Amino acid sequence: MSESHTPPSGSARLNTGVAHNARVWNYWIGGKDNYEVDQKVGDHVASINPIIRDIARADREFLGRAVTFLAGERGVRQFLDIGTGLPTADNTHEIAQRIAPDARIVYVDNDPIVLVHARTLLTGTRDGVTDYIDADVHDPDAILRRAADTLDFDRPVAVMMLGILNFVLDTDEARSIVRRVMDAVPSGSFLVLTHPTFDPEVGGELQVPAMEFWNENATPPITARSGAEIAAFFDGLELVDPGLVSCSRWRATSGSAVVVPQYGAVGVKP
Ligand SMILES: C[S@@+](CC[C@H](N)C(=O)[O-])C[C@H]1O[C@@H](n2cnc3c(N)ncnc32)[C@H](O)[C@@H]1O
Repeated sequence: MSESHTPPSGSARLNTGVAHNARVWNYWIGGKDNYEVDQKVGDHVASINPIIRDIARADREFLGRAVTFLAGERGVRQFLDIGTGLPTADNTHEIAQRIAPDARIVYVDNDPIVLVHARTLLTGTRDGVTDYIDADVHDPDAILRRAADTLDFDRPVAVMMLGILNFVLDTDEARSIVRRVMDAVPSGSFLVLTHPTFDPEVGGELQVPAMEFWNENATPPITARSGAEIAAFFDGLELVDPGLVSCSRWRATSGSAVVVPQYGAVGVKP
């Protein structure tokens, strides 16, 4: 098996006394890798914003459709998935390597529980590669340096930033992170992104009190952005049809998918 491995080093940062995003997200999508404190906060957020589980599931389904589209229709063979989350059904490497067994995937996260599960996650195909990097999205240079051990930056890369830029509270910094990473990949590369919003046209009102509660009771702190701010992350890229939409509606097979206050889009570097 062609497989590289970055040893877990984050156990010292493990804090099970405070709800943490990766574990609460795992709870909302029906996973078991979470603690009572995560369930309590997750349930309270759901009592404020009853569609939070729909949002989390819609985001994962968007991931599935986007990776299927990129590996299948666009022939992408390299994926840099920043803000991986805990392993669940149909992770990026499983979807991509089902279509293209030689696909190379690098996961990046800074959560110690995700690190503990990295070994489970790191079971790729015989021909492909699945690697895992313990790094912070605020340090894109470190991510690029270490991802270069596995990915060929002369060939197209799908950069996946699903539900992660919302943890970079400063919008200028978030834009510069995207720009730094997209500058490092060649023409024909993609940016795949989801991001929460308060925009009322996609039902974002209840995200306001839900995120207020989150920021007082859980970690890391989160922010929402408007559709216009999120679209600006794609400056210099060409949005793939249907553009920036509720992630539940992006290339959805069912036209009746419930609209969620989480935008999703895919852009290609010309
Ligand atoms: C909402 S989850 C999204 C998981 C997955 N991308 C998805 O869409 O289902 C966000 C992930 O980002 C990770 N994360 C949060 N802040 C981070 C940071 N500063 N650097 C790296 N990863 C971070 C969390 O640990 C969590 O696993």
